[in-house]
Amino acid sequence: MSDSARRPRVLSGMQPTGRMHIGHYFGALRNFVRMQDEFEAFYCVVDLHALTTFENPAELWPNVMAMVADWLAAGIDPEKATIFVQSRVPEVTELHWLLSCTTPISWLERVPTFKEKSEQHPDNVNYALLGYPVLQAADILLYGADKVPVGEDQLAHLELTREIVRRFHHRFGPIFREPAAVLTDTPRIMGLDGVNKMSKSRDNYIPMTGDPDQIRALIGQAFTDQTRVYRRDPGHPELCNVCQLHRLFSADYEAIWEGERSAATGCVDTKKLLAERVIAHFEPMRRRRQEIDARPGYVEGVLERGAERAREVARDTLAQVKAAVGLR
Ligand code: TRP
Repeated sequence: MSDSARRPRVLSGMQPTGRMHIGHYFGALRNFVRMQDEFEAFYCVVDLHALTTFENPAELWPNVMAMVADWLAAGIDPEKATIFVQSRVPEVTELHWLLSCTTPISWLERVPTFKEKSEQHPDNVNYALLGYPVLQAADILLYGADKVPVGEDQLAHLELTREIVRRFHHRFGPIFREPAAVLTDTPRIMGLDGVNKMSKSRDNYIPMTGDPDQIRALIGQAFTDQTRVYRRDPGHPELCNVCQLHRLFSADYEAIWEGERSAATGCVDTKKLLAERVIAHFEPMRRRRQEIDARPGYVEGVLERGAERAREVARDTLAQVKAAVGLR
């Protein structure tokens, strides 16, 4: 690319799932916030990707808005990062097409997420589901990302993106940067059921900007160490998800664990303490979220400016790619 002296770029995308939970925060948003100072950052709501499995059109936009409001509440700063909605930069679908012309179907059929989603939605194994990682590659390459913070489940997509780049370069010459995945240093966050990853679809989550009583009630229902039947039984912090969650909020978590082991404290105490720490930790974000909600048009304005900036970069990349493949 012509702008080789530019700052390194980071890009990530997230499907519009509405309000964020603490798994999103520690697994992704915290990294997004950290990286916006060092990198030129692009954070994208991938609404086109959502359509591959999404069912209810009426929920799509409210989910975009609620998610972006939580991103801003978490500390993503629109003065530093470009925050935008994927479908408002239609160049991405054009690049997706150009990349798809050199991507073998066999590569896509091997992708684990394709197999999983085909099993989850057997009545809707659509064409776009197969092409999903090509659209993701287009997101990454359109904005020239050097680094892509993602969860472990996305590593196969990142590897595929690099393969798409190499094949494309082999045919048409060098245009893109090869992106690298950045994994979070937070261990996988389990949901309130204690056995599945925290997720909205399983309804086992602690909302990031939820109100304090809601958070208390949810944590009150969390599963703990299932081997501890009576209050006097010793607890096993390794087996207790509430104890595991304390690691994220408490420098003194070892002492909390010791209380469980010796049965000095019960599960109820440990849950109550967790709830208070979660509430305190996210209090500034809850406040910021309230401020954002009180400013009509604010989030929409952020997204408009974001799309404008994103389109400048997108047009530039797309022009180069089109020329390389011979389109005039
Ligand atoms: N596939 C990602 C997910 O399901 C979302 C995504 C789309 C993405 N485009 C991206 C992530 C680009 C990183 C970079 O979580």
